[in-house]
Amino acid sequence: MARAATRHICQSCGAAHPRWAGRCDACGAWNSIVEEVAPETVPTGGKASKKASSRNARNIEFVSLDGQNEPAPRKCSGIGEFDRVAGGGLVPGSALLIGGDPGIGKSTLLLQAVAGLASVGARCVYISGEESIDQVRMRAKRLAVQSAPVTLASATNVRDVLATLDTDDAPDIVVIDSIQTMYIDSLESAPGTVSQVRASAQELIRLAKRRNITVLLVGHVTKEGVIAGPRVLEHMVDTVMYFEGERGHQFRILRAVKNRFGPTDEIGVFEMTDGGLSEVTNPSALFLADRNGDVSGAAVFAGIEGTRPVLVEIQALVAPSPLGTPRRNVVGWDSGRLSMVLAVLESRAGLQFTGKDVYLNVAGGFRISEPAADLAVAAALTSALYGLPLPGSMAIFGEIGLSGEIRAVSQMAARLKEASKLGFTQILAPQSRGKLPTEGVALRELAGVGDLFELFPEQPAAESQAAGL
Ligand code: TYD
Ligand code: MG
Repeated sequence: MARAATRHICQSCGAAHPRWAGRCDACGAWNSIVEEVAPETVPTGGKASKKASSRNARNIEFVSLDGQNEPAPRKCSGIGEFDRVAGGGLVPGSALLIGGDPGIGKSTLLLQAVAGLASVGARCVYISGEESIDQVRMRAKRLAVQSAPVTLASATNVRDVLATLDTDDAPDIVVIDSIQTMYIDSLESAPGTVSQVRASAQELIRLAKRRNITVLLVGHVTKEGVIAGPRVLEHMVDTVMYFEGERGHQFRILRAVKNRFGPTDEIGVFEMTDGGLSEVTNPSALFLADRNGDVSGAAVFAGIEGTRPVLVEIQALVAPSPLGTPRRNVVGWDSGRLSMVLAVLESRAGLQFTGKDVYLNVAGGFRISEPAADLAVAAALTSALYGLPLPGSMAIFGEIGLSGEIRAVSQMAARLKEASKLGFTQILAPQSRGKLPTEGVALRELAGVGDLFELFPEQPAAESQAAGL
């Protein structure tokens, strides 16, 4: 018998290599290349070969952009944070990928979501490949959703799943927990490898489109933060969400990174409790809960996540360094951006960070990607350097340019409103061209980083500052 053709696939990025190598040229991952049977030699579930013969080709029917059909209504789970991240509910016939570290709470979230969907009349199926029926039942009891009309199965063979669900009586929502446990028996590679995950997902997505089912795929994330193996999955599905959080913290963030039916960069905030995930409708209050008033180096940043304003505390610590190259440590922000803000403060405002370690932390394990946090970071750094606290009732936002100017950012009015709602009475902001709603708050508009000194009327003399005090 002829040996089946094989190829070598990187399990991290999906790149194909003619022979095994220790390191993948495409993504740089080490020891990620695995030999797999080439798909051309594999009959996929008895379907016709991929090489379509021209005899079977049909003319494609073209239609106009302006369809007459009303889109089917979205299905809402009643969990507001989840529905908003999905773009206002789940679209029938769409495929969603929910990625996250093992143990972060993906199964918990989806079980709660389908229980919510089922109780408003959607027919939901939960297929677990990781846990037994009893384990899922135990979890449902803990979440107090055991009476929701969700049907449950434990299966890992995609062919069985397709045979069961590919009927006129198909359910509305199917959860596959997780895609890494699913396999197609005609493929020789092990479950969890790129070809298995890709082929299984492809079959399930095809089923979703054919039967108008919403398929929710759970995917585990590797250390590098990429859904294990199949980065390819991200292109195949309609929506990609990541469920994130720090182990030591109770809260979890659901973030949409791709959504064909809604906005991306939207976040949903949850808190993991004894009885499952509970929604956090006012995340700013949670992130600021442990704030300790009069400490130097702490600044409150009024940020925007997706469509929602979120206030977080930025903490900085500046300490004399025993090292030749002082440390620059950042948690929750971009380290390149920190270097830039430090350089601007040094060269445009004359502050001295030479010979000092600088630590920057976004409190509560939150992660910020907006440049609008520059000014809050600069204020925290200045406050830490001087050893003088900022006013406790002050919230800050603004981007810093290389010449030291403070630049306007998006949605300034929304940031202001949220800060004022949470009791902040002083706002440090860029100069705005339009009129901002300023009832109840004192707005201080800064033109450049040099103006930061005004915040510290009793700033130490330049000599003591140079001495590292
Ligand atoms: P799980 O949903 O199993 O994570 P994943 O599917 O992403 O691997 O979540 C497991 C964690 O959540 C586990 O560490 C226990 C915790 N947990 C709670 O704190 N409260 C709860 O009610 C539940 C169900 C889980
Ligand atoms: Mg799980």
